[in-house]
Amino acid sequence: MNFTRQLNDLQEKINRALDFRLPAPATRPRRLHEAIRHSVSAGGKRVRPILVLSASQLFPSGNNAMSAAVSIECIHTYSLIHDDLPAMDNSDLRRGQPSCHKAFDEATAILAGDALLAMAFEILSVDYSDQPDLIAPLVRILANAAGSERLVGGQMEDLLAEGSTPNTDTLKYVHENKTGALLVACVEMGLCLGGKRGNEEVLILGRRLGMSLGLAFQAMDDLLDATRTTEELGKDAESDAAQGKATSVAFCGIEETRIKAKEYTQEALSFAREIGGENEFLLELIAYLLNRKK
Ligand code: IPE
Ligand code: IPE
Ligand code: MG
Ligand code: MG
Ligand code: MG
Repeated sequence: MNFTRQLNDLQEKINRALDFRLPAPATRPRRLHEAIRHSVSAGGKRVRPILVLSASQLFPSGNNAMSAAVSIECIHTYSLIHDDLPAMDNSDLRRGQPSCHKAFDEATAILAGDALLAMAFEILSVDYSDQPDLIAPLVRILANAAGSERLVGGQMEDLLAEGSTPNTDTLKYVHENKTGALLVACVEMGLCLGGKRGNEEVLILGRRLGMSLGLAFQAMDDLLDATRTTEELGKDAESDAAQGKATSVAFCGIEETRIKAKEYTQEALSFAREIGGENEFLLELIAYLLNRKK
């Protein structure tokens, strides 16, 4: 199967698993579950769950990696719902649809995010209950990545830096944490599911891979915001400049950002080669993410 077909196939499988795993829209309170489904089903690229699945396939073990993939997408979608709130980036459009607080209201969007955050951990603890030795590491990795010194910390500094001239230290902190941390967790969880939980050498390479890929991904996100249209992105274009965000583009310009994204991608590719295993799909995925259009 060629790469594009494999990618589409994985996206469809992930969408089916999310649909199956989330409470039905008619579940009480209906408004909350409709809001959750509105944001999850709007159809993101599913980069994080795909990364969990492809990292788990490096050293196939027969473990179910889909539940971990679904739980990461719950965390990611919650972070997007809250990121769009008026108190944060105040974005009206997400994944080609009105953002959660626009389609519903602010309170519902806050609660939908809260519920997705809790759901991620419930999914891990329920779905891996037949392998209790996997639950603690998976929960620890995800909780750490989502926490106050990682994703939430990155979001905090992203907001604190608004309107000031970006410097290397802030930009590095924001990118490593708001975006890098979750991509690191994807690779690490995938490797744990692939039976590499005790292999610190492989885990170190996996974390480096995840961070380089995360930095390339956020550099590209900043670049796309500055160079693509709202229609192409499915979210508000040129919103970073309007809000005075500490982005790579604000810090060093479009061309330099493109160069940085390429360099981080090269780093991620070399870590993926070093890890070895069945890495063909992962190598193609890393290269594909550099050339994405949204
Ligand atoms: C957007 O993530 C937020 C960032 C961390 C850059 P994605 O670009 O993966 O968004 P979706 O999931 O495809 O909507
Ligand atoms: C958001 O970064 C990162 C998280 C949601 C953790 P951005 O604010 O750049 O994401 P977009 O551009 O709105 O998708
Ligand atoms: Mg933001
Ligand atoms: Mg935003
Ligand atoms: Mg952005």
